Amino acid sequence: MILVTGAAGFIGSNFVHAWFAAKREPLLNLDRLTYAGNPANLAAVQDDPRYGFVHGDIGDRAAVRELLRHHRPRAVVNFAAESHVDRSIHGPDAFVTTNIVGTFHLLEAVREYWQELPDAERAAFRFLHVSTDEVYGALTPEAPAFRESHAYAPTSPYSASKAASDHLVRAWHHTYGLPVLTTNCSNNYGPYQFPEKLIPLVILHALEGKPLPVYGDGMQVRDWLYVEDHCRAVMRVLEAGRPGEVYNVGGWDERPNLDVVRRICRLLDAARPRLDGSPYETQLAFVPDRPGHDRRYAIDARKIERELGWRPQETFESGLAKTVRWYLEHPDWVEGVTSGAYRSWVTGHYGQGLA
Ligand code: NAD
Ligand code: TYD
Repeated sequence: MILVTGAAGFIGSNFVHAWFAAKREPLLNLDRLTYAGNPANLAAVQDDPRYGFVHGDIGDRAAVRELLRHHRPRAVVNFAAESHVDRSIHGPDAFVTTNIVGTFHLLEAVREYWQELPDAERAAFRFLHVSTDEVYGALTPEAPAFRESHAYAPTSPYSASKAASDHLVRAWHHTYGLPVLTTNCSNNYGPYQFPEKLIPLVILHALEGKPLPVYGDGMQVRDWLYVEDHCRAVMRVLEAGRPGEVYNVGGWDERPNLDVVRRICRLLDAARPRLDGSPYETQLAFVPDRPGHDRRYAIDARKIERELGWRPQETFESGLAKTVRWYLEHPDWVEGVTSGAYRSWVTGHYGQGLA
């Protein structure tokens, strides 16, 4: 069986669904259920005998140690993290606690377990750390996309904390020989994404008739990857990646934010026209820029393609159309995540006028 941390979140829950669609092997989810962890994302598997859930913190070394001893996973996939840049600017503490200190305790618990495994199991064991392209910092418009050898230059509390965790993971390989794999992926989008991130936020604000907040001039560029493609990449790296190696994962699809927002508006114009017949784009609102906003990220995903044969299957057009449809077809899920705590985040961050 495998242990997956943070599998009640956006990417982790998509990973669970992808895992059970492709494999018979049991999967145990260790999740602290922060505001971003949502059991509803996993409602479809909760009665599946191959699925198990433990409510806990990756930073609780004793509990993780016990879990490992008891369940004896052949691999650990670490998705657990604080993941939102804007929240990291408002309150960096949780990012340092979970992303850095939590990963450290997790690594120590895993190292202890791994060292005591019989030879064959020890050799086959893998620790896969899921990270982000944001650790590389910002690119100028003409610069080549990030390769795995790009120097780390994180700029936000979020990316700095993820960079620190990547360094710890790498050091545990170099120093102790722990068979680690790291994936650095670009911006994900798709089903079950908490609507504090750009794409689901814009879809839901549009439907509610609220302003669509675009930071600064809206010309910041991100490389977008449909979440199911990311999950396939993580499975492929787990299966065939070389221990100690890093794999950059991306969609080969760079877009300025303004294009992303406009494209969502057009999809909604077609699928759920506004009652007054005017386009959703009339709701677009430029708002003050994020402090230290990285101008551009871009991923060079040739290594994972060359070595492991992975390529994205969705284009941005096909993935975004699926995503918009998913949010339209899941009003109960939306209702569940946009209550209390979410509303106070939106009001606190964007101000009363935009919320
Ligand atoms: P998310 O915020 O939706 O989910 C994070 C999950 O981790 C939640 O279920 C939360 O409850 C859990 N968690 C948080 N702290 C924990 C702790 N201390 N112990 C156990 N569980 C804890 O995040 P996501 O968007 O699904 O991202 C998952 C991973 O992928 C993160 O490591 C993130 O850095 C990385 N990543 C995300 C993106 C993206 O675009 N979302 C892109 C590249 C990499
Ligand atoms: P986000 O989804 O928060 O991901 P990240 O910051 O990790 O890239 O934001 C994606 C881009 O969209 C980023 O450049 C910030 C921008 N953005 C807005 O313009 N308005 C918003 O309300 C949000 C949440 C993000």
